[in-house]
Amino acid sequence: MELVTFAPGSGLLAPRAALRSDAPSLDLNGTWRFRLSPVADVPEDFADPGYDDSGWAELPVPSHWPLHGHGAPAYTNVVYPFPVDPPYVPDENPTGDHRRVFDLPEGWSGGRLRFEGADSFARVWLNGHELGFWTGSRLPAEFDAGPWLRPGRNVLAVRVHQWSAASYLEDQDMWWLPGIFRDVTLTRSAADVFVHATHDGRLSFEGPGGRLDLPELGVSGLEPGVEVRVEAEPWTAETPRLYDATVTFPEETVRLRVGFRTVSIEDGVLLANGRPLLLKGVNRHEFDPRRGRAVTRETMREDVLLMKRHNVNAVRTSHYPPHPAFLDLCDELGLWVIDECDLETHGFERIGWRGNPTDDPRYEAALLDRMRRMVERDKNHPSVVMWSLGNEAGVGRNLAVMAGWTRERDPSRPLHYEGDRSCAHTDVYSRMYASHAEVEAIGRGEEDPLDDPELDARRRAMPFLQCEYAHAMGNGPGGLAEYQELFERYPRLAGGFVWEWIDHGIEHPAHGYAYGGDFGEPLHDGNFVIDGLVFPDRTPSPGLLDLKKAFEPVRITFAESGGVARVVNGHGFRDLSHLRFTATVEVEGEAVAEHPLEVPPDGGEVRLPGAAAGPRERWLTVRALLATDQPWAPAGHEVAWSQTRLPSEPPAPAGAASDLPGTVFAGGRLTRLFGVEVEGPRLDLWRAPTDNDRYSGLEARWRALGLHRLTHRTDAVERDGDTLTVRTRVAPAAGDLGMRATYRWTATGGALLLRVDVEPEGDWSDPIPRLGFTMTLPGAAVDRITWFGRGPGEAYPDTGLAARVGRWSATVEELQTPYVRPQENGHRAEVRWADLGPFRVSGEPVFGLTARRWSTAELAAARHRPDLTPGDRVHLHLDLAHQGIGTATCGPGPLPRYDLYAGPATFTLRFTPA
Ligand code: GAL
Repeated sequence: MELVTFAPGSGLLAPRAALRSDAPSLDLNGTWRFRLSPVADVPEDFADPGYDDSGWAELPVPSHWPLHGHGAPAYTNVVYPFPVDPPYVPDENPTGDHRRVFDLPEGWSGGRLRFEGADSFARVWLNGHELGFWTGSRLPAEFDAGPWLRPGRNVLAVRVHQWSAASYLEDQDMWWLPGIFRDVTLTRSAADVFVHATHDGRLSFEGPGGRLDLPELGVSGLEPGVEVRVEAEPWTAETPRLYDATVTFPEETVRLRVGFRTVSIEDGVLLANGRPLLLKGVNRHEFDPRRGRAVTRETMREDVLLMKRHNVNAVRTSHYPPHPAFLDLCDELGLWVIDECDLETHGFERIGWRGNPTDDPRYEAALLDRMRRMVERDKNHPSVVMWSLGNEAGVGRNLAVMAGWTRERDPSRPLHYEGDRSCAHTDVYSRMYASHAEVEAIGRGEEDPLDDPELDARRRAMPFLQCEYAHAMGNGPGGLAEYQELFERYPRLAGGFVWEWIDHGIEHPAHGYAYGGDFGEPLHDGNFVIDGLVFPDRTPSPGLLDLKKAFEPVRITFAESGGVARVVNGHGFRDLSHLRFTATVEVEGEAVAEHPLEVPPDGGEVRLPGAAAGPRERWLTVRALLATDQPWAPAGHEVAWSQTRLPSEPPAPAGAASDLPGTVFAGGRLTRLFGVEVEGPRLDLWRAPTDNDRYSGLEARWRALGLHRLTHRTDAVERDGDTLTVRTRVAPAAGDLGMRATYRWTATGGALLLRVDVEPEGDWSDPIPRLGFTMTLPGAAVDRITWFGRGPGEAYPDTGLAARVGRWSATVEELQTPYVRPQENGHRAEVRWADLGPFRVSGEPVFGLTARRWSTAELAAARHRPDLTPGDRVHLHLDLAHQGIGTATCGPGPLPRYDLYAGPATFTLRFTPA
């Protein structure tokens, strides 16, 4: 049976470029008839044009049938959800039969049926005649329909099997989602061209005949194989200049948008148009929470716009070629692209790579076919600057075949593949999740040598990139700024691609967004599919906001002596003349003055406006804004910012001791504060573990210590004049470690002052989750919180680059970051004061603030957002410190300086009535 064939397909036409043509074409997307069978072995009578499908369901095409009520999605990361025994697959093989009746327009003759993508093995019949089959889910397939088309009514039948021998090649970390998920057309276009256009103005094309016109540059009637020199503005992701061209054949004219650019490697540095290329990238899977990988053009545009607005300049199309329209958008709006082949065999790692298709000659044709179909389809895109052979497919002979063919066909683009550390077949050295220290060593050219001296010398001469880093799963990623600093310091480092763009949460009636296991899969990888910089609905997560800051193409710093800002142009290919700069002075978070700043186009030192000193804290913020509308964002869009603190006079000393109406202590515990019934504040060390805490092993250690079940014991309550001293010991059951916490309460100047001294006892060798207080209030007492501190978003020791000092306001609801799998979130850092409604809390000097309508225990127990329901208390966390976040879900934990170890600490808070 063909399902277990190693052949990539049959009856297919040679692959060619995705082109806009004036040849007639018929859109066959729309409502099709559909029937799902649990096994592959079903009669083929449905292909007969006379077959009665009136009892079948209707299904939109493009789509994945499990997202339309037929079967269910399933998620695995590395493992195959079937036994590893290539080329065989189980009898249980969901099989979707699709039928579409269409009328051929009058006078139509000939044409090709073109499928942009079907997952994973499809066979097609036209009017009862079998045209062939194909595999390679994320690659186009074309069949000659001409001989079988007939005037009037035509019947197209497509059978799609979820599993086949080709499934072994498609083990990407994502949902298994079968279906015809990209466009289907009948087209009379047959043309193919390969345009070559370099940044120094050389223009030519390859094609079977045809004449190229590029009127804007005075090119007309250019023949294939002839090179002309033109005066063209080069294409870059920062300046995506495109020129409209046509190639005219006797039968059709195709339109192209030509970008003139050159990629090269010199002295181990990656260059575009002869200048260093620093990739500030993300890995993008195609995903929509309702449609899966059947993404619309609007969604593709939204992705590109969001990336551009967050200073992202590059995309790796992990781990397959995207819908072709996505690359048109990258050309038009400007993103550097690593186009990756539809190949991953990661599941073989688990069995020691035995039988890996990458090294199996029987799979050679299929692997080569995949590479060819990608390169041929996408070869005309200026945005595509590298070809990637695939992802996590081990090593083997077939990589050499893929690379060899590609070098011959397109010597203009370097080759990428991360899975072979020896880089035998690539032009760049690529790694994933290397630590900061290792990246730095590579940047210096001091990496550990390969055993083979020749390969080692070759690799040492290569630029380096991290095709994946900063795993954005749950709260995080931490460490972005430190990676960026390295990428910008060492010329060999060409930057990297954060993993990954979007959380693949599928919209679900009970769970909000579903992840692995939510559809009853017997084998799954849980929420490892929820690791994006945007939430499933494409709302930017705090991680994306941080990334925007890390990727800023303008660096603004301030002279120590004050009065001067230094502006450095970090663009690779343009100056600063498209930006305008402002300086804003804020007093305790309120703007008091805004001045335009004159910054030279190449950057430099700029004198700052003077600002009067005063008793309240003041900050100056310099912002770089788009001066005019750009295709990707309107004028006024903020590209970069930086803040400096201005001198201020010390605050007036607090008043004398006083009575505090409505404030009650019972047995050393505060029970009412300014008329509001409260519990706490009391010492707390626990936080709802983040995904990174879990994967680093810290969560397990914390639970073993019992940090999630601390007990409190009051040892003494002493009154001495105005001060109430409460001596406590806070400790988990079953062990002997604990913390002495001494609370000193003083009523002074109408405020209640709390000073706490903490002294650890016992063996505290592991980092602790947090050090702070928990306090609860009646739910109705708090709605909106206004604070002066860093915001508006969350910040942890190694995250929160985007959080600037200012005055912010949000409801308790709005303070929550909606991580798909609930976990610690929402911490506002360096808060000077926060107005909670009934009272204000001030730090001496600062504290960390979190407010929720559920407890930490409830947050830690929740698996999905809807598990969290507001209770009748507001839980405040007033923190002195937090453990860093890191990115240990995949990669390193926090840098050592962001680890929080128990030690003697003193913490002061002031409570004042509203
Ligand atoms: C990498 C892999 C990605 C993804 C990531 C973890 O190893 O290339 O596809 O699985 O790990 O989220």
